[in-house]
Amino acid sequence: MFDDGIQLGRNDMCWCGSEKKYKKCHMGFDERLQQCAHAGAEVLPRSLYKTAADIEGMKKSAEINRGALDYVAAHIKPGISTAEIDRWVHDYTVEHGAIPAPLNYEGFPKSCCTSINNVVCHGIPSEQEILNEGDIINVDCSTILNGYFSDSSRMFLVGEVSDERQRLVEVTKRSVEAGLAAVKPWGYLGDVAHAVQTCVEEAGMSVVREFGGHGIGLEFHEDPFVGFVGEPGEGVVLAPGFCFTIEPMVNAGRPQIHISEDDGWTVTTADGSDSAQWEVQLVVTEEGYELLSW
Ligand code: MF3
Ligand code: CO
Repeated sequence: MFDDGIQLGRNDMCWCGSEKKYKKCHMGFDERLQQCAHAGAEVLPRSLYKTAADIEGMKKSAEINRGALDYVAAHIKPGISTAEIDRWVHDYTVEHGAIPAPLNYEGFPKSCCTSINNVVCHGIPSEQEILNEGDIINVDCSTILNGYFSDSSRMFLVGEVSDERQRLVEVTKRSVEAGLAAVKPWGYLGDVAHAVQTCVEEAGMSVVREFGGHGIGLEFHEDPFVGFVGEPGEGVVLAPGFCFTIEPMVNAGRPQIHISEDDGWTVTTADGSDSAQWEVQLVVTEEGYELLSW
């Protein structure tokens, strides 16, 4: 629902906190959004569009998020446990004055997710889980700084990895790039979904349906849900200030998944095939988009 509740005069101060007159700031934006809504398109409540101050805050959070993943990239190797990765992420984040968002999030017990081979997402770091030569692993890292959330994940190849696994990781990365290339101001989330899905399915792989991206900023997971199957021109309008993640989970085999009954978190492929994921966080701008975290 579009909340066009605030009715400002042209010469009033803008609602976004810029201290500019409304007509010189968000008036054109609000009018365009209203037109989209009246034409039947899906638009977000105005409170979810980020102001310049919000984006500044998110960029500072994202810098730590990227730094934590850079630290993992520099140190990951065969023989370490996923609990070791969790300690790196936790300590890096806290040492930079931030909070790991996953820790205690809906009961999640660790500071990042570590998802190896046939684990699709939400793998829980453990002392017992050791990285073996040939594994592929996703490390998903999320950061809170001054109330602003950032979220991204990367794949890592452990030592020598089979051609099939390398291809899965590459296709998944390419699908994120295709999704990014489809981001246009005043375009649609369906444009992004379609680009990701096409790239994955042309490679003979499949997109997981149950999990996807999300809006982000003042909360970890804001509206809307961002799926990666869809048609161009459908879904939420990509208005400037919309901040979200592109994070397809790609299975080498069938798209179906299974959620562990033991820990309530670990998601695996139903058919036992391998799965990969890359996650980037971006904000839509007047010109296109800006990547915040990757
Ligand atoms: N980082 C994940 C995402 O990309 C969410 C993980 S929730 C957790 O949305 F609790 F498992 F950490
Ligand atoms: Co995310």
